[in-house]
Parts: sequence; structure tokens; C-alpha cells
Amino acid sequence: MPDDLLKGIDRSWAAADPAALVPGHAARQAELEGLDPALAGLYARGAGVLAGAPDAAALHERTVALLGRERGVVTRALAGLPELPLEERKRRGRGLNLLKRWLEELERAKRAELERAAESREVLDVTLPGRRPWVGRAHVLAQVRDELLDLFHGLGYSVYTSPEVESEEYNFARLNFAPDHPARDAQDTYFVAPGVVLRTHTSPGWVRAMEERRPPLRLVFPGRVYRAEQVDASHMDQFHQLDGLCVDRDVSLADLKSTLNTFARSIYGAGVRTRLVPVYFPFVEPGAQLDVACAICDGSGRARSAAGEGRCPVCKGSGWSELLGAGMVHPNVLRAVGYDPEEVTGFAFGMGLERIAMARHGIPEIRLFLENDVRFLNQF
Ligand code: PHE
Repeated sequence: MPDDLLKGIDRSWAAADPAALVPGHAARQAELEGLDPALAGLYARGAGVLAGAPDAAALHERTVALLGRERGVVTRALAGLPELPLEERKRRGRGLNLLKRWLEELERAKRAELERAAESREVLDVTLPGRRPWVGRAHVLAQVRDELLDLFHGLGYSVYTSPEVESEEYNFARLNFAPDHPARDAQDTYFVAPGVVLRTHTSPGWVRAMEERRPPLRLVFPGRVYRAEQVDASHMDQFHQLDGLCVDRDVSLADLKSTLNTFARSIYGAGVRTRLVPVYFPFVEPGAQLDVACAICDGSGRARSAAGEGRCPVCKGSGWSELLGAGMVHPNVLRAVGYDPEEVTGFAFGMGLERIAMARHGIPEIRLFLENDVRFLNQF
């Protein structure tokens, strides 16, 4: 019978010494030898192939061949017991039960050993390159915004946010736009419903803040604005602005100028040259734009290129680039919110964040800001 049973064990399976897996293996082998030499042979081979299994799948296959409930070698031997004469049946039955228990124990020990080996392989491979955690960062426009908020916070300004969907009344009328002002045209402004627009600038925030609060006020208004623009490399139909507003007794144009110069120096460096040029905006009087000396030609209007010296391509020869709009808050705007222009005055300014980010980082294309391509965003 043992030879017959051994047929169930594949001859090609490699065996190993089971002694390291279970204490007392040699004693068990000897015990079976004394009891039933035929079973001792089966045990030696069975224990050997379990110990020699190279991986979990092989161990499973070998365990099924030995101990499987239907076709396992040991199961079949147990099933054959009733045919044996009484004495032999007792001896073999005892031997088979021992053998079965010991092989099961060995299988558990081997399985644990393979699992331990697999785990320590994973943990101990110090040659694997480390996995760098994916770290996000603030969008380049958010970085510029935060830097400006920081700067103005230092000058005593706090943040006021107002709606992106705004009434035509706040976006235009209360800011002293005439009823027929061209900006109110659907060509230039997105209308959401009659009398409701996507705000074209962050300035309507001034009106809301002034209606809510009494002077003195020092506020900045960051946010997204919309204009029905033809989109190209330097125009988008949505972009970001930061307005500032200061209202108090005796606020003058000199205060505006020094505030804007502080801002320009912090953005462009202490040596930057600026100028204020009169410009019309309905909600300020006087109105102005702040120019900074062109970063490319340093204000000369001339630049060198491969073709020789010529007109600076960035400022188109003017020597200046426009940075923001500003001015003294129009008395009509103050009156509309219930302030007395004889008592308080104010200045205001408004800038585009995209333009600042583009100038600072040399970004040539405004659409990049909204594409959310991490290859672009990761550079800042
Ligand atoms: N709101 C103006 C714009 O969007 C900018 C501005 C703000 C001008 C404050 C003057 C004063 O163009």
C-alpha cells in the first residue's frame, strides 16, 4: 500500500528537510518507524515535499495531494482501513492519525514561514526608490493674491468679498456709470437675467461695503470678474482683480500715491519707477492709471535684439506699462451710499492679478491660468 499511496505525490516535487519547521520532527519520524515502517516512508516523503514547497501556490497544491478531503493520499488510506484485519487496522489507524496531524502541523508552519518571508521581502528591500508623496500647492494666481492680501493687511486693510453674480445697479449705476455707458452693452457684459450681470469688476464691492459700514474704511476686494471679450493670448472672458478702498476724513491724492508706490515697490522691487497718468473712470474723480517703467527696456522704449537696436516690443516704445486703475472716489458714489462728500473722502484702486503674474513670471499666454495643466502649475 505505501508504494501505491506514494503515487499520489508528484515525483518531480522537490523536498527539503522539515526539521527546522517543527520541533521534534526526528522523534516523530522514529516513532512512526517503530509503529509502521510503511507509514514512516509516506511521512518522510510527505513532510519533505511540504517543507520544500517554493511558494504558497505549491504548498497548497501539495497539501491537497496529501490531505485533500476527497482524493488526498491520507484520506484514501483512512478509507481503506476497514478492509484490513483487526490488529493491523488498529496499528495503521493510529499511525495514520498521527501522520495526518503532524502533516497538518507542518503545513501550518510552512505557510507561516512563507508569509513571513514575503513580508520581510517587501519591508527590507532598501534598494527600491522611495515613493514621493504627491504634494499640491496654491495656484499661481492664488499665490499672487495671497501676497497682495499680505501686503495690504500690513497697511491696515481687511478683506471684503462680494457676489460674482451682481445686479446691474451695483455693477454700474451706483458706481456712477451713465445709463448709456457702452460697458453696459451686452457686447461687453454677460447678462444673466434682465438687470443681473456677471460682475465686470470687483468695484461693486465698495458700494456694498460702504452701505453696510461707516467710515473709516480700509478694505480690499479680491475676486473673479467677467467680460464678454474675444479670447486671445492676452484676453480672457474671466479673470481676477483686486480692488482697494480707503475712506476717511482728509484722505488725499497724496495718500493714494504713497500707497500705490508702496505696493509697486513690494511687487517690482525698491528701485521701480512709477507715474500716475490721468484716465477717466466714472466712479473716480480725478481718475488715473499707475504705470511702471517697462521691465524689458527699463523705461527707455528702446531694446536690443538680434536685428540691432529698435523699439521695445513689450511697451511698444513708450517705456511704460500700465499696472492698475485708481483715483479719488467720485462724490456721486459717496452720496449714493449715504456718505457726505464734504465730510469724508476716499481713494480706490483696482488691478488685474493675471497681468501681475504674467509680468512677474514671463508667462506669455493668459489661457494657461485656467487650463489646470499641472506641468504649467508645477512651475510656480
Ligand atoms: N474697476 C476698474 C476696472 O475694472 C478699475 C479701477 C478701480 C479704476 C478703482 C479706478 C479705481 O477697470
